[in-house]
Amino acid sequence: MKNHAKEGYHIAAIMDGNGRWASAQGLPRLQGHTAGVATVKTLLRELRDAPVHTFTLFAFAIANWKRDKEEVEGIWQLLQHFLEHDTQELMDAQIRIRVIGDKSGIPGQVRKTIEAVEKRSQENEGLLLQIALNYDGVDEVARLLKRTLHAGVDPNRIDTEYVRAHLDTEACNEPDIVIRTGMKERKGKFSYWRSSAFLPLQSAQSVCVGSTTLWPDFSIKELQEIIDFADPDSRLFGGQRM
Ligand code: FPP
Repeated sequence: MKNHAKEGYHIAAIMDGNGRWASAQGLPRLQGHTAGVATVKTLLRELRDAPVHTFTLFAFAIANWKRDKEEVEGIWQLLQHFLEHDTQELMDAQIRIRVIGDKSGIPGQVRKTIEAVEKRSQENEGLLLQIALNYDGVDEVARLLKRTLHAGVDPNRIDTEYVRAHLDTEACNEPDIVIRTGMKERKGKFSYWRSSAFLPLQSAQSVCVGSTTLWPDFSIKELQEIIDFADPDSRLFGGQRM
């Protein structure tokens, strides 16, 4: 049985606030990312009992290459370490891992590890963990167009189902909720949301929730609160209330 047919929700998260978490404690920024990975590991253990079938995490945006070399290299080392050393625990928990994004631009050793982990976990039937690496939603569309034109696909075959089936994410499995942590607290009636090009097409019908919690402090309790608050089952998808 495929994950999207399973009970529960697809939750996606923009894990913002690692740097501010570290600065607040007088630590280097990279320590914030280390704490961010620890949060992911804790959540993955706790998600077993939560109504979640897919968890999609924005771990490295194409725009993140603009950061200091030291921070960029540190993040890739953390991701490599996670994919290499935490696999057995993920396998034991029956977690299936997919990486989305432009894999051709991912450092060679990490790419090899990704290929091995995706292959090793592909038959797992538990949570689907999708990690967005070297990802940008507009780049995703550009790659989709390029593949489609190269394959000589008949334009008459292209409809919404075709697009949903050929994006980087698992076919027709879009997030019910997108969370952005690390939002600035604001006074007054306005608040705003910036997607950072995370799943722009897939989130068309998602409930988007911002939280002022910094990612390293994010917890399963808060995730449950967000699911209750967002109430994705009440969406009408453009229809009307009966
Ligand atoms: C943004 O925080 C966060 C990132 C650039 C992603 C890094 C995320 C991780 C290393 C955790 C990923 C883990 C796994 C295992 C998938 P920021 O640095 O922009 O925070 P700031 O806004 O406070 O500066």
